[in-house]
Amino acid sequence: MPIYLNGQFMPIEEARISVLDRGFIFGDGVYEVIPVYSRKAFRMEEHLRRLQHSLDGIKLSNPHGNREWASIIEQLITLNDGEDQYLYLHITRGVAKRDHAFPKPPVPPTVFLMSSPLPDPPVDLLQDGIACITAPDNRWLRCDIKSIALLPNVLLRQMAVDAGCAEAILIRDNEFMTEGSASNIFVVKDGKLLAPPKDNLMLPGITYDVILELAAANGIPYEVRRISLAELFDADELLLTSSTKEVLPITRLDGKEVGTGKPGNIFAKLHKLYQDFKRNVMRGA
Ligand code: PDD
Repeated sequence: MPIYLNGQFMPIEEARISVLDRGFIFGDGVYEVIPVYSRKAFRMEEHLRRLQHSLDGIKLSNPHGNREWASIIEQLITLNDGEDQYLYLHITRGVAKRDHAFPKPPVPPTVFLMSSPLPDPPVDLLQDGIACITAPDNRWLRCDIKSIALLPNVLLRQMAVDAGCAEAILIRDNEFMTEGSASNIFVVKDGKLLAPPKDNLMLPGITYDVILELAAANGIPYEVRRISLAELFDADELLLTSSTKEVLPITRLDGKEVGTGKPGNIFAKLHKLYQDFKRNVMRGA
């Protein structure tokens, strides 16, 4: 599997980084996950814009301009098998003697990209939906930064897995829903799609944007606002989105059925629109 590390493409087995890398020592870095359909990176500009936002958030200068990123990304896609892939892009503050403060003068960042196969979401998940738990959102106050320091997300996802569930839906201050441990969450009530606002408490999902654009273009009413815990539990439908999972129906929450306990109408509509969009736009010219 060819990967990219600091200017070179190489087999992943040959890739080496220092144990003093600040990503390894402090989780001091940011990342992106970019889906690739028919060998085309989906919404590359938007992903690179979000990457810039994350880099700005951790005060790390961008090692590449967008043209350079595009060239690295295109080469990596070509070197890897599969029409559909997802790219993991990771930048850390580089290698330096262990000290919490930034290295002075700055050292070269570590830049790593790899590609993995992107399978279609399993049919049984689309037909039956997934089960989720709720969990307190105990992360920091800059969840808009796509930080590689994911220990809270890791523990929250594992809490869901230990409960036999696919995802943890996170609740701030016992009051309102933010997102999933690695996904965005939408509520449907009385035919309307409700989405939490893209503020500092959630990752601004690229798939989240696609879903709201599809809703707007196809007459599905929607509202972007805080969603209370009560509204979450009173939902007719719940939807999960991410670059790797697309859009999935959530049919059980904390052991209880969501709505009818079956994927609902708004899910069916949005899933079809997403598949059409994938075929006609993402895979298109
Ligand atoms: N995670 N919220 C969180 C906390 C996430 O980690 C992700 C994605 C999303 C959805 O964003 P997008 O639609 O741009 O994928 C929301 C990726 C897939 C990951 O960490 O693997």
